[in-house]
Amino acid sequence: MGARASASATIVSPALLSACLVVFCLVCSFNEGYASGERATVETHTIQVSSLLPSSICSPATQALDKKSSLRVVHKHGPCSQLHQDKANIPTHAEILLKDEARVKSIRSKLAKNLGHSTNIDQSDATNLPAKDGRVVGAGNYVVTVGLGTPKKDLTLIFDTGSDITWTQCQPCARSCYKQQDQIFAPSLSSTYSNISCTSTTCSSLTSATGNTPGCSSTACVYGIQYGDSSFSVGFFAKEKLSLTPTDVFDDFLFGCGQNNQGLFGRAAGLLGLGRDKLSLTSQTAFKYKKFFSYCLPSTSSSTGFLSFGYSGVPKSVRFTTLSTISQSSSFYGINIIAISVGGKRLPISASVFTSGGAIIDSGTVITRLPPTAYSALSSEFRKLMRQYPMAQPLSILDTCYDLTKYSSVDVPTISFFFGGGVEVPLAPKGILYASSVSQVCLAFAGNGDDTDIGIFGNTQQKTLQVVYDGAGGKLGFATGGCT
Ligand SMILES: *[C@@H]1O[C@H](CO)[C@@H](O)[C@H](O)[C@H]1NC(C)=O
Repeated sequence: MGARASASATIVSPALLSACLVVFCLVCSFNEGYASGERATVETHTIQVSSLLPSSICSPATQALDKKSSLRVVHKHGPCSQLHQDKANIPTHAEILLKDEARVKSIRSKLAKNLGHSTNIDQSDATNLPAKDGRVVGAGNYVVTVGLGTPKKDLTLIFDTGSDITWTQCQPCARSCYKQQDQIFAPSLSSTYSNISCTSTTCSSLTSATGNTPGCSSTACVYGIQYGDSSFSVGFFAKEKLSLTPTDVFDDFLFGCGQNNQGLFGRAAGLLGLGRDKLSLTSQTAFKYKKFFSYCLPSTSSSTGFLSFGYSGVPKSVRFTTLSTISQSSSFYGINIIAISVGGKRLPISASVFTSGGAIIDSGTVITRLPPTAYSALSSEFRKLMRQYPMAQPLSILDTCYDLTKYSSVDVPTISFFFGGGVEVPLAPKGILYASSVSQVCLAFAGNGDDTDIGIFGNTQQKTLQVVYDGAGGKLGFATGGCT
């Protein structure tokens, strides 16, 4: 692999080369003789078709988690996850994409919503929480394991840059708990647990973090958060000792101790909120990490990535773009998409197409959503360059699909995103294609309904990139080859 990569180094640019230093791209080349008349060369990745589907055995990343503030990231449904599930409970690709659409809708409605109109939480009425706003956890998510309480109990949580409060299911599960892999957290067995008073300002701060006005049970503060697909968690807002790693331990971490939880969280014990609101993990640990974290999402569910806190371990090659704030929501990380290139050529999309709706980066949305004008330019150029391969039926929201049954390898045009400040981010091959099976391999992008809808840079496109969040500095960085 190393020899091949350096052999091709003589003919490719450094940016392209780094995009190629992933196991799935054995050779990167310029295909001569493209007959469009506009250019003679198209940059492509040569991908082994067999590598498009995840293996059923876990091959964890070989690079050790040497940084002391790092957690191992695995896909919720993959073989590296400890969340063993009945095969019947693993969602199909169509279900994952349907739920992805629900998450996108709820992100849109959260952004559109006037925060003054929050719902009041009444614990006795928790099952009737309206699902009109809030966020969907989604089905294409990544989990990490953290420790909570004294003595510490391990909990596997979905990490989510699109939400703020961290919560886990808690005994005695007064109303309902769904099935989870870890033992359900028992506050009565921890010496460091305490309730937050419902008259405190800490309790009131739940309104902006959850979109719901907190409630009161005797004197204890009650939080509630609902997700657009009718998933929710309601319970006591509390503080507890959080052990991110053996050396990085936080006293008095504010979290939701869920007494009534329902929804599609797989077997995860809850959610780790990495949004920008003041109750997020990022904000609560700002005194130590300065709102600085980074992660790498593995290329397949049979490998592993990382989630690291603090500046250490950020590679020199990282390029930063400015984070923007999305109006009416302090949670989301806003980004400026400037342009997209396919096969090495920038698509002719006017800058105003990207600015009219704005965009965010989200760890929980699977498929990148683009303004329809940008998506149609991307998809038509991709189709043109892929015309030697037979097309296949659309897969849910993905309409540009190929049947690769007859091929052992394919040449797929490279795709790069350009962000504000001239930052070019070449996507990994696994960030370009979404394979349901070898006979249905799709361009992993979708168009929004309207150019004014919010764009979302989703987790498929983030695969193998080290994505660096500098919340205090207001910057977002990307480096290629963060993990395999
Ligand atoms: C937290 O508040 C609830 C509801 O009032 C109560 O049942 C529980 O015992 C309290 N826990 C602690 C540790 O005070």
